[in-house]
Amino acid sequence: MQYYKVAQTGEVKDGEKKKIALNGKVMLLTNFQGTYYAIDNTCPHMGGSLYDGILEGYSIACPKHGSVFDIRTGKIIKNGKIAFFNLKVSDTRAYPVKIEGDDVLIGLE
Ligand code: FES
Repeated sequence: MQYYKVAQTGEVKDGEKKKIALNGKVMLLTNFQGTYYAIDNTCPHMGGSLYDGILEGYSIACPKHGSVFDIRTGKIIKNGKIAFFNLKVSDTRAYPVKIEGDDVLIGLE
């Protein structure tokens, strides 16, 4: 596992998010109560940008159809809907995050 510096801690304050481009992937970096988390930014359903969704506590809602993911694990919390149809959406991927001094680093295999 190799860690890459992606941000400074001051750039992403408590309750904030940042889109990160790293090694051909786009990730969503979030801070909740001083702990940083990283998941894939692209919704596994139809590619909505989770960065554009609403972050509430440990959950981020996809702006396209409302599926909700856990920012700690990438797991689906609530499936979204299209019209009256309930979706079956897969989990997204989570990445390890560590802090070194003022640097935020994301780990990749
Ligand atoms: S694209 Fe995210 S729920 Fe459909």
